[in-house]
Amino acid sequence: MQQVKKTMSKVASAIVSVAAVAGGILIAHSQAMPDRITFPDGFEKGVLYQTVNRADVKQFRELYAPKAAVDAVRAGKDVPSGTKLVMLIYAAQLDKGGNPVKGADGNFVKGSLTAQMVMEKRSGWGAAIPAAWRNGDWEYAAFTGDKKPHAKFNANTKACFDCHLPPSVQDFVISLAGLKGTALGAAQRPSGPGTVAIAEFLFGPEKLNVKVGQTITWTNIDASPHQVTLQAQSEFRSPVMLKGQSTSIQFNNEGTYGYICGLHPGMKGEIVVSR
Ligand code: CU
Repeated sequence: MQQVKKTMSKVASAIVSVAAVAGGILIAHSQAMPDRITFPDGFEKGVLYQTVNRADVKQFRELYAPKAAVDAVRAGKDVPSGTKLVMLIYAAQLDKGGNPVKGADGNFVKGSLTAQMVMEKRSGWGAAIPAAWRNGDWEYAAFTGDKKPHAKFNANTKACFDCHLPPSVQDFVISLAGLKGTALGAAQRPSGPGTVAIAEFLFGPEKLNVKVGQTITWTNIDASPHQVTLQAQSEFRSPVMLKGQSTSIQFNNEGTYGYICGLHPGMKGEIVVSR
């Protein structure tokens, strides 16, 4: 079997390796191509449809969509081909204790603009993406605060595909409910013993003391998906939870169980089980 690597001129950064198999069958492997996406100048004239407090990474985020895309999804249609959704990532201003400062509107107060993330849908683009992590016809790219390609993020846009794959039922747009204007009031904060809420990218409470045999239930009330990942002797990952979904685990052995979110590793929690 002979392997040929070539660079196509139209998609300069895409390395397409073609394996020529005896008998003439061709198998092509491909990868994400963030440089297919150009910076969407003027995006801020569209709709600021959602903001996100990211307590885990101390960021404030703003999500913008073109009005045509908002009108389409609110009319029950798919996000149109050619749509660019933009997410601005700001460092949150921190207080003396290192915690994000909240404004009167409940939002973290913005510091510097560190990155501008773009997801673009274009008919046919999905064909270039490996089937195992394809997100329909969406592609992802990152830009710096001054609109230059963000080399570090663009080197691993697979992370974008991984995180947007669970909400495939909502066209891979994590914030689709926000885009539709139906985001509020869909999930209630759980209460009572053995319950952990996931809100604003924090587990609450972060530390829980329980007795052997107790069942813990985590409920996601964020618009973003989360995943409880226990770091015990053998790693356990819950299903990815969308807004309003829960996961329960019974703890039958004494010990201290640290856990993180499988999608946002900065989110940490701990369950201490005793007799
Ligand atoms: Cu998470």
